[in-house]
Amino acid sequence: MRKKQTFVIALILLSVIIWVYKSSNKEYDNIMNVIAGNNHYIRKIIIKPNETCNLNRLFIILVTSYVGHVELRSAHRRAMSAERLKSMNATRIFLLAKIPRKEKYITQNAVYDESEIFGDILQGGFTEDYRNLTYKHLMGLQWASNFCNTSFILKVDDDIVFNLNQTYNFMLKIRHEKNLLIGYMLNNTLPRRSKQNKWYVTQKEYSRNVYPSYLSGWYYIMSKNIAFLITQEAPYHGQFWIDDIFVTGILTEFLDIKLKHLPKDYWLEYYELLECCLKDMVMKSIQCEYVVAPNGGRNELIVEFNDALEKCKRKNCTVRSDNQTLNKVCINYRERTIFGDGKAVIQNIKL
Ligand SMILES: *[C@@H]1O[C@H](CO)[C@@H](O)[C@H](O)[C@H]1NC(C)=O
Ligand SMILES: *[C@@H]1O[C@H](CO)[C@@H](O)[C@H](O)[C@H]1NC(C)=O
Ligand SMILES: *[C@@H]1O[C@H](CO)[C@@H](O)[C@H](O)[C@H]1NC(C)=O
Ligand SMILES: *[C@@H]1O[C@H](CO)[C@@H](O)[C@H](O)[C@H]1NC(C)=O
Ligand SMILES: *[C@@H]1O[C@H](CO)[C@@H](O)[C@H](O)[C@H]1NC(C)=O
Ligand SMILES: *[C@@H]1O[C@H](CO)[C@@H](O)[C@H](O)[C@H]1NC(C)=O
Ligand SMILES: *[C@@H]1O[C@H](CO)[C@@H](O)[C@H](O)[C@H]1NC(C)=O
Ligand SMILES: *[C@@H]1O[C@H](CO)[C@@H](O)[C@H](O)[C@H]1NC(C)=O
Repeated sequence: MRKKQTFVIALILLSVIIWVYKSSNKEYDNIMNVIAGNNHYIRKIIIKPNETCNLNRLFIILVTSYVGHVELRSAHRRAMSAERLKSMNATRIFLLAKIPRKEKYITQNAVYDESEIFGDILQGGFTEDYRNLTYKHLMGLQWASNFCNTSFILKVDDDIVFNLNQTYNFMLKIRHEKNLLIGYMLNNTLPRRSKQNKWYVTQKEYSRNVYPSYLSGWYYIMSKNIAFLITQEAPYHGQFWIDDIFVTGILTEFLDIKLKHLPKDYWLEYYELLECCLKDMVMKSIQCEYVVAPNGGRNELIVEFNDALEKCKRKNCTVRSDNQTLNKVCINYRERTIFGDGKAVIQNIKL
């Protein structure tokens, strides 16, 4: 009887000791994060971009890019050359991570070579994975906020198409604004709770029934000081893995930073509409007034789009009239939810 009691007490004591040890370890981790402070996400960098960031810039473009997307990066560089960016008081950095084991089409030496030639790669010491995108996203913001002398950060994905001149014009317009965070604002998005969904999220990962409003990670603009605040706060919030929701939604809600929605006619939510808009420029000499759209898996679309814009300017393209709106002209475009894979649902799309 005695023996049994002693045993039970010993067991309880042991559990308590383990618990104390573990939680103090967590405490320890947190303290380390605080000390690390402003370099949590850029401690283990494999490749740094050539330092063009200390010059006083209007904006820096951060492009999240899967390490194997060599052709997409090439398309971005051809569509918007470093010289053209410089003429707009801008610069660009591609955000990469380590090559995952299953990737057979690229070697680390090729990444080194690419960086040697272009000097525009920031490669983190973690492995490429869509569940590591939050880390990549924060690495970019922290790099920019620590090392770049810039007013704004434009964050884009490598598989979107955007109009650089219009982006620049927009930057000039907002130049004097402080604490800005503007993009495509998504409201009342629900966490996916079915296991088949790519964006399936467990109760443990996110327990609330609805996400806070956030900005699509496709393309958003952020004042540099906001990037600083976000990357300082992020280590305390458990790194929810859907990056744009975590960075522009969860953290901004906590920090009480207001989100803004880009003007109407800035976005084309569907690739098919961009395809139409491009065709109209080429065949009918009608201007494509939209600034951002997804590339629908066509790597060269960003080049074609920017080429067509130049030609259109030379041809003196006409402005789209009311009877030529894209949803009247584009018969191919299908009703579906945007931001692929059910990541978000947008109701009442009006074009
Ligand atoms: C940014 O560059 C401008 C002009 O070169 C300089 O006056 C300013 O101090 C720089 N700011 C930072 C934070 O380095
Ligand atoms: C570049 O942008 C910075 C920050 O907005 C600004 O202070 C500077 O005057 C700009 N330089 C040029 C050449 O426009
Ligand atoms: C970047 O720096 C490396 C080493 O200093 C140099 O060899 C390379 O030419 C630079 N690239 C650019 C684009 O400036
Ligand atoms: C994220 O990166 C870490 C560090 O390299 C790696 O251990 C982990 O496997 C990656 N996550 C996934 C889901 O691959
Ligand atoms: C989300 O809400 C904001 C106002 O809070 C609004 O301006 C914006 O248009 C909404 N976004 C969408 C996609 O409807
Ligand atoms: C973009 O801006 C540059 C510099 O101002 C100009 O040369 C070019 O023609 C513009 N392109 C378009 C399509 O507006
Ligand atoms: C372009 O077209 C507009 C009318 O659509 C006209 O007023 C303008 O003069 C034209 N410009 C050139 C350079 O042809
Ligand atoms: C579209 O409207 C314009 C005037 O806004 C008119 O000149 C043109 O003929 C119309 N086109 C068609 C196909 O109805």
